Amino acid sequence: MDYERYDRVRAVTWNDEALDLLDQRVLPMQQARVICHDVGRVAQAIFDLVVRGAPAIGIAAAWGLVLASRQIQAKNGPEARVALADATNTLNAARPTAVNLAWALRRMNAVLANAGDDWRVMLANEAAAIEQEDLAANRHMGRLGAALIEPGSGVLTHCNTGSLATSGFGTALGVIRAGVAEGRVARVFAGETRPWLQGARLTVWELLQDGIPATLIADAAAAHLMSTGQVQWVIVGADRITANGDVANKIGTYALAIAARYHGVKFMVVAPSSTVDMHTATGAEIEIEQRNEAELLGYGGQRTVAEGVRAWNPVFDVTPAALIDAIVTERGVVLQPNAQRMADAWSGADA
Ligand code: MRU
Repeated sequence: MDYERYDRVRAVTWNDEALDLLDQRVLPMQQARVICHDVGRVAQAIFDLVVRGAPAIGIAAAWGLVLASRQIQAKNGPEARVALADATNTLNAARPTAVNLAWALRRMNAVLANAGDDWRVMLANEAAAIEQEDLAANRHMGRLGAALIEPGSGVLTHCNTGSLATSGFGTALGVIRAGVAEGRVARVFAGETRPWLQGARLTVWELLQDGIPATLIADAAAAHLMSTGQVQWVIVGADRITANGDVANKIGTYALAIAARYHGVKFMVVAPSSTVDMHTATGAEIEIEQRNEAELLGYGGQRTVAEGVRAWNPVFDVTPAALIDAIVTERGVVLQPNAQRMADAWSGADA
């Protein structure tokens, strides 16, 4: 497949001096960059959703630790690890649900455990490896996931799981890119993803950059769309997949899975193995991020709801494994996931 043709956007760029982030708060009307020279700025950018999407925040955090390493003195990796503990904790606390953040920081710290006086180089190499492996995983998952889709199918996706949310190509959007390239995906629908509008502001813009036509729907139109027979698969990403195959993803994913099952539409979750958390038994144990109610009570800084009204704003939900037809990672496809199938797929892995 001609990857460049279908994948032109890059959200996270390391330039040896600083971390350069495409500011996702102001897309698509402005293409502004936020340049982070220190770890505090990276943690704030993750919290503020300048950079977002589970794999992308893991990658940004890894580079954040590289920036932090420039502020400390240490003779070897273990010493550096102690000196970087505060930076690690600050990054880790930026967002709770996506496990990729903790995973990337664990991986960076593990490198330090065995590093000598070349620890700075090893840390930077590890961040680069995390970024490159993510792109390779996404391209591989694209092929695996697309193979499940019958030619001429319609798909519905949620949130933004594309190059904006990863090091490139995307997870669910990677499958859609590959599916379009192979003629399997004939129609792409994207839910607007209220309240932050990742679908409306990011996904359809990203697809437009790559020449993939997509139709935006209101989230509330999803069940009706399914009833018309125009979509055969719902394809989403994940922020955390637990040992029994439950999936935490953007709020609204669970409702899509229920509607899909009712209408006989298949449901696919696409995520790199860095999103799989075999140490958490079920989705019930996942911390669901709650964000500021202002995201619901207004738009663009302008209040749209009567003063005095309060809002509840959980930004992720958990889809039970029983509603999922396929989990696609770069290690392979788990059909009809459950604890046994996940354990079989992950046996021997150092997840
Ligand atoms: O709050 P966000 O925009 O970071 O949420 C992102 C999602 O829920 C994505 O679906 C998920 O991280 C997968 S991104 C490849």
